[in-house]
Parts: sequence; structure tokens; C-alpha cells
Amino acid sequence: MRKNIVAGNWKMNTTVQEGVALAKEIDAALAGVTPKCDVIIATPFTHLVSVVNAIDTNRIGVGAENCADKTEGAFTGEVSAKMVASTGAKYVILGHSERRAYYHETPEILKEKVLLALANGLTPIFCIGEVLEEREVGKHFEVVKAQVEGSLFNLSAEDFGKIILAYEPVWAIGTGKTATADQAEEIHAFIRKTIADKYGKEVAENTSILYGGSCKPSNAPELFAKPDVDGGLIGGAALKADSFMGIITAF
Ligand code: 13P
Repeated sequence: MRKNIVAGNWKMNTTVQEGVALAKEIDAALAGVTPKCDVIIATPFTHLVSVVNAIDTNRIGVGAENCADKTEGAFTGEVSAKMVASTGAKYVILGHSERRAYYHETPEILKEKVLLALANGLTPIFCIGEVLEEREVGKHFEVVKAQVEGSLFNLSAEDFGKIILAYEPVWAIGTGKTATADQAEEIHAFIRKTIADKYGKEVAENTSILYGGSCKPSNAPELFAKPDVDGGLIGGAALKADSFMGIITAF
């Protein structure tokens, strides 16, 4: 059966020293509880080695927030999936709406990144989600379907089975405006059906689909209670150990 997962996306926040301190604080807090979900933190590239070495990686999986769409070579400033894997990180967030919007990452580019992540043994946390104007005209179903099809449906069923999906409505990210639990469930169920239509019911049932967008301790219990919401991808509330723990213990 699919896993429940709470993953933090630190985005471009914290120095290495602050990040290590935060990771240690979360690690220590988790030592005292048996969470009913897997816990992942995705940090800036600069932090990965230090964070991996500072915590118990059996307790917390570590991930990057991006990787290159090229294998290696003359791509100044890029960080490859192989480099990410060599830090001890096991996950990589791909297709975050901020990368799509600000760095012009297209479905084709993301397709390459997913393939390279998988080839290097990383688990992609693949983000999808519509902008406000798309939801307002009722296009959100077709938008997320196209995002999944455009970057993931080239994969074999075996490889698709390694993907974690995160539905993040762009209008809910960092805005304090959360999708209601019913809105989240409706589209998560649709995403699962889209997967089932392509890869069959078993693959769909085994795929973890996380919700992201202003998720916090107060709304996590209601969201996570929905059958097709398998956890959260957390931005702002992942930057403080107590609020991140409050979401983890919502399961
Ligand atoms: P917030 O939780 O800050 O809304 O961010 C969500 C997000 O983008 C996680 O990837």
C-alpha cells in the first residue's frame, strides 16, 4: 500500500548553519515519537551533505529541490542528479510551480529531469497544480492531467511506481489560502484515476499523492483524513520544527 509522507520544502531559506540546526531539531523531536508517516526534508543544494551527516537518515529522508536536465559537462551553475545522489540525498523535488514559473521549466525539460533522477536512484517528488485563473474557469482537471501526461507518462509502470506526486494549487502556495479538504480530495481522486487509466488500478493505489499549499498544523488533520490525500509538501510551516512536527503528528 502507498505511504503517508510529510515532506518539507525549504525553498531558498536558511544558511547551512541554520539548516543543520533545524534538521537536528526535527530529528531530535522525531526521536521521541513514532510518526505514522515517512518524513522528508528537501533543502538547498549547499546544505545536503551537512544535513545528511547531521541527522539519522533512517528517520528523515533528505532531498534536493531541483536537479539539472543534463547529465554532466559544460553547464555552469547546474547541479546534476548524480551529484545530488552523491551527497546521500534520496529524493528530489521536480516541477515545483516556482521552477515552472520563474525558471521556465517546461514539461519536456521536466521529463529529462525525471529520467535522470530515476537513473541515479533518486525518488522524484513531482509537483503539479493549476494557477488561479485556470481553477476559476474550471480547467484545473485538464491542467494537472496534462502536467502528469507531459512529463511522466513516458515512464514504464515500474518507474512510474517510484514517483511521489504533489498536488500544489499555485493559488494556495504561500498565500495562507488552503484548498478545502473537499477540493483537495476531489482533484487527488481525479489524479489517481488518471494514473489508473494509464497504468492500472494497482499502480494508482500505490502512488502517494501529497497536498501542498499553506498546509499547517491546524488544517493538516482535515486534509490528511481524506482517502486520496497521502500527506503534505510543506513550505513555510516546514521552517520551524514545532509547526513541522505539528503537521507530521496530524497523522
Ligand atoms: P507553503 O506551505 O508555504 O504554502 O508552500 C507550499 C509549497 O510550495 C511546498 O512545495
